[in-house]
Amino acid sequence: MRKKIIAANWKMNMTVAETVSFLENFRSHVDEVNGVEIVIAPPFTAIAKLSEMLGGSQKISLGAQNMHFEMSGAFTGEISPAMLRELFVRFVILGHSERRQLFGETDAIVNKKVALALASGLKPIVCVGETLEERDAGKVNEVLETQLRGSLAGVTAEQMQTTVVAYEPVWAIGTGRTASPEQAQEAHAQVRKVLAGLVGETAAKVRIQYGGSVKPNNAASLLGQPDIDGALVGGASLEPHGFAEIIKAAVAK
Ligand code: PGA
Repeated sequence: MRKKIIAANWKMNMTVAETVSFLENFRSHVDEVNGVEIVIAPPFTAIAKLSEMLGGSQKISLGAQNMHFEMSGAFTGEISPAMLRELFVRFVILGHSERRQLFGETDAIVNKKVALALASGLKPIVCVGETLEERDAGKVNEVLETQLRGSLAGVTAEQMQTTVVAYEPVWAIGTGRTASPEQAQEAHAQVRKVLAGLVGETAAKVRIQYGGSVKPNNAASLLGQPDIDGALVGGASLEPHGFAEIIKAAVAK
């Protein structure tokens, strides 16, 4: 049984003050929620405060949105896994399509980050997904296979058990246009098939999140699909009540 995992990707939103008021409000909504793993990935500047407020909470885990592929050194503007671990960060989102498209991250770079995250005791959330152009050209399976094989090269079956994959069709991110549950399920099945080629039976244990305009009103139908094990939520995770509604939709599944 794969425990559902719902993660908030706040992107470049939320000051420390906004983070504090979010958490105070959000906690009251998820007080009674059990059986779902909740992750919040705020901007780096809010991690320390959120970490202090969470105090090692088992219900809500801290995530980061990125990290560098070296432990330390002359890398101006970068953050290392050791810095994240010090603040009790448990998850790190890697290879998000915005990082790939706007900041030139390749599968090879994502792969180096995944390797270091795993070696550092962080759980990677590895993002893959096709553009609209690639979908229209019938290349979804091919793109997913290339991204997964490239990003996860060298990851062992044991490491894969602590790795989460997020399928995020680029055309659905921040557009309000969600993949239909059937489209998403088809892509998730393909992701699991590629994972089986990489790590055999362990693929059945890997959690695959869907991301791309997940909202309270579409979460239940997406999360009801057999290979959809959670959601990576951008816009709708900025509002405590709405984000809690998405989490509650996962509990019911
Ligand atoms: P969205 O973002 O929910 O705002 O579409 C999802 C993501 O980019 O992770």
